[in-house]
Amino acid sequence: MITTEPRGALVTPPLQQPARRPTPRRRGAVVAAGLPAAVVALLAAAAGPAAAATTGSSGVGDPYFPLAGNGGYNVHHYDLTLGYDPKTRHLEGRAVITARATERLTRFDLDLKGLKVTSITVNHAKAAFRRDGQELVVSPRKALRKGQEFRTTVTYAGTPGPVTDPDGSLDGWIPTDDGAFVAGEPQGAMTWFPANNHPKDKASYDFAITVPAGRTAVSNGVFRGQKTAKGRTTFRWRQSEPMAAYLATATVGTFKVEQYTAPGGLKVFNAVDPREAAASAAVLKKLPSVLAWESTLFGPYPFKGAGAIVDRAPQAGYALETQARPVYDRAPDLSTLVHESAHQWFGNSVSLTTWKDIWLNEGFATYAEWLYDEQHGGQSAQKTFDALYASPASSDLWAFPPADPGSGAHIFDAPVYSRGAMALHKLRTAVGDRTFLRILRTWASDHRDGHGTTAQFIRLSERQSGKDLDQLFHTWIGTKGKPSKP
Ligand code: TRP
Ligand code: ZN
Repeated sequence: MITTEPRGALVTPPLQQPARRPTPRRRGAVVAAGLPAAVVALLAAAAGPAAAATTGSSGVGDPYFPLAGNGGYNVHHYDLTLGYDPKTRHLEGRAVITARATERLTRFDLDLKGLKVTSITVNHAKAAFRRDGQELVVSPRKALRKGQEFRTTVTYAGTPGPVTDPDGSLDGWIPTDDGAFVAGEPQGAMTWFPANNHPKDKASYDFAITVPAGRTAVSNGVFRGQKTAKGRTTFRWRQSEPMAAYLATATVGTFKVEQYTAPGGLKVFNAVDPREAAASAAVLKKLPSVLAWESTLFGPYPFKGAGAIVDRAPQAGYALETQARPVYDRAPDLSTLVHESAHQWFGNSVSLTTWKDIWLNEGFATYAEWLYDEQHGGQSAQKTFDALYASPASSDLWAFPPADPGSGAHIFDAPVYSRGAMALHKLRTAVGDRTFLRILRTWASDHRDGHGTTAQFIRLSERQSGKDLDQLFHTWIGTKGKPSKP
């Protein structure tokens, strides 16, 4: 774990430095804010894991991505063995998925888009399967009992490519000029492995990825070594803490590798496209101190490994907080590094139960950028808030409530990021620095390796502060349009 500076209230240093890129945030709990807890619980249960018939279900009930994930089982572990040739763009895969049935199952679904499945076994017996869009429907020879642990092996191959999201962006397996940039938020995990593709179902992962010698395959968690034979190198990785499928990566390229142990014992593995090396060196050097600073604010860093993958991937055009080791489409600036690092607590260790709650990821990571500036000689969070509040009522910033983006097409828009961060700033000024930090730390520790909802965050904030915060949250995350006062 990283050593940290002494914790304390947010002592606010001086000014200077321009406001950050505007971003947004999102909603969800607003609704919950005004409702009695029992009603909220009922609603959550109703929206929850699809009532499982004996056939599982084709989604977990996410309103924005109805086919994402599947009902009827929970995955504990994915063991993924992959081979990729950047020249032919051919992928060969074998996924061994250990799961437990939550209902009696005569069949169940996995999510997989494209690629050709050559065989499936369940508990070592050949299983029948069919494809139906992104649903891979598996019929085991023998029905699975409720509560039974079972092991599914899927062998597959093909030429993976990205999926196009409702907002037009690409995610999943994105080929580059020297390999592939692999980033699966929100949907793309299913473009390269069969998955229960929703953050509700987190699991541990092992990866063995084989690429032509000279290329490097970089994944999540801890590096477990590499072996070269017959002109190919296999890289092994292990993510032992639970991870949502969208946070998995297997990014391949020609990379400069740097490994070291940071003060406090954290193992860092960086892989950098040589063309981005000069531009990223100064920022990457700060990774240990950024994680240490975030640990003082948010609590212990939640994972065993750390690092960065700096690729050159103009086709992607964004970075992603892939677990323990974010992937960057180019040399990141410092605020992007701070943002993706903050996601390790908010979004990765504490996961969403529905994409509608995306502000719990993006609003928090954005507010971490504001705090970083404030405490490192940049402008205060108040100044950043004020600059945003000055946006005209017609601005996209006010287009929808952060906690209710309305559809998957808006989950990465400005209200989710920037207005989400504004809501946290309002919370901070309402409860005071000490209580605010206690709320953030308690959120990270109470939900570590698990999930959190907007309603739970509001309840925690009220409990920790002893204040009624319904109105504040309603105004800042639950209402569309520019609030009448800052
Ligand atoms: N979650 C990423 C971040 O804020 C952003 C992201 C992931 C994204 N997928 C995207 C942005 C698709 C736009 C489109 O760090
Ligand atoms: Zn983010």
